Amino acid sequence: MEKKKMLVLGASGLTGYKVMQLAKSRFDVQGTYNARSTSYDLLLKLDLSKPDELNKLMHEVKPDVVVNTTALHNVDYCESHPEEAYHINAAMVKEMAEHCDNIGARFVHISTDFVFDGRKGAPYTESDPPNPESVYAKSKLEGETFARTCQSWCVIRTSVVYGWTPLETQGSTSSSGKPMNFALWALSKLARAEELKIVRDQFTSPTLADVLAAVIVKVAGTAVGKNELYHVAGTSCTSRYEFTRKLASMMGYRADAVQPVESKLFAQVAKRPALSCLDCSKVQSALGYRLLNVDESLAVMRSQIEMESPNLLGS
Ligand SMILES: NC(=O)c1ccc[n+]([C@@H]2O[C@H](COP(=O)([O-])OP(=O)(O)OC[C@H]3O[C@@H](n4cnc5c(N)ncnc54)[C@H](OP(=O)(O)O)[C@@H]3O)[C@@H](O)[C@H]2O)c1
Repeated sequence: MEKKKMLVLGASGLTGYKVMQLAKSRFDVQGTYNARSTSYDLLLKLDLSKPDELNKLMHEVKPDVVVNTTALHNVDYCESHPEEAYHINAAMVKEMAEHCDNIGARFVHISTDFVFDGRKGAPYTESDPPNPESVYAKSKLEGETFARTCQSWCVIRTSVVYGWTPLETQGSTSSSGKPMNFALWALSKLARAEELKIVRDQFTSPTLADVLAAVIVKVAGTAVGKNELYHVAGTSCTSRYEFTRKLASMMGYRADAVQPVESKLFAQVAKRPALSCLDCSKVQSALGYRLLNVDESLAVMRSQIEMESPNLLGS
């Protein structure tokens, strides 16, 4: 039987890269890059800020499933560049949804825990009302609304996505202006014995990109996730500081190399929720899939680094 065609928008990013790797066996998969070209997969160029590039690509590829992992997710940059943020995170999602309808494709779109204001004081379920407080979060919520206009959609909200990827050790910077995901950034600082001051008053559900990608590929290929909103994240609700201490220990460094600070000491332009952890019960029971906690996830990441870049590990 002929494989269905999957188009991964943002395949040069962490989530997109993992989706490409996992989807290969089940789909005829193609992906896009913008600022970071890569030799790992032959990706197609797509710049969402340029008119007509998306249109051309959709007509050329004619996918059965579109997975959108693109985003302008530098939260502080978005705050001072609202037009750009709304264009990439909302207006272009509207176009993607329209293209999917025109060609009869399923649309899987990734969103964020930041759509919540953080004042609940406990992990958020899909039925909790969003209340975004930054330009990034507002633009992402608008993107969700557009994605949900598609005939066949699935919106997945996630939280602090991290993991090992060879693409982020090449020194290039993404369209969001970030060279690395949070965990790899922290690990590279630990490897250089640099000081790490991490906020202890922001709580999230750090998510291993491999697990997020596995769920994305599952919902892309079955009817289960049709027209559903899912929270997909790590099952530990933890502060950035505690997460980074665990990362340090798991990767062979002293946990006390990580020092706690209050977020008010950082000049952060955009407001962040104090606790945006996600309750992922719905997706776990719908798919019969167990998500991982921080310890399990970091063990997976360590095993990949041991094989691919052991010089990053401590003793
Ligand atoms: N990272 C997190 O902590 C986090 C937390 C919650 C939710 N999310 C959501 O999860 C999704 C995936 O995040 P991620 O961490 O995997 O992101 P990522 O590694 O930064 O990848 C983003 C991808 O989008 C592409 N992209 C960005 N701007 C573009 C543009 N103007 N035109 C075309 N492509 C563009 C990037 O291309 P280039 O790299 O080639 O420039 C890259 O392939 C996003 O929707 C994000 O909002 C992320």
